[in-house]
This record gives sequence, C-alpha cells and structure tokens, in this order.
Amino acid sequence: AAVVVRAEAGQGINPDIRKTEQKVVDSVVVTELSKPLTAYCRCWRSGTFPLCDGSHAKHNKATGDNVGPLLLKKQ
Ligand code: FES
Repeated sequence: AAVVVRAEAGQGINPDIRKTEQKVVDSVVVTELSKPLTAYCRCWRSGTFPLCDGSHAKHNKATGDNVGPLLLKKQ
C-alpha cells in the first residue's frame, strides 16, 4: 500500500536548506559534466545540497516516503 506523506501546515518540504533565499534554484551546464555520474538531491535533507549524500534513505525509512536523487549521466 502506498504511504502518503504530507508536510504539516505551514512547514513546507524544505526543513533547513538555504532558508534565507526566497527560492532555491540550482542550474547545471550539461556540457560541463566531467564525472560519469552525478546525483542531485530531491529530498531536501542532503548535507551536501544540491548534491545527494544518501540522506534520502534515512528520510524514507523514517517516514515511509520514497524520494531519491536526480541522476545526471555523462554519455
Ligand atoms: Fe536527498 Fe539523496 S540526499 S535525494
């Protein structure tokens, strides 16, 4: 059965990343990819945001959520 996780009213999805910014936006110039694989965080729990550090696994286990990173792969 699917588990639906929702942020509490007034809490939002981002607990503590770059909270002084009105909107957190990151961009990647694809032609500059140098590594074969880079993982970008979509769970807002990474200690290395915007990069994924694996923190989504702890979040998923604690909440029943199913979030994971965006993977950029070099061709
Ligand atoms: Fe956020 Fe992996 S740490 S998606």
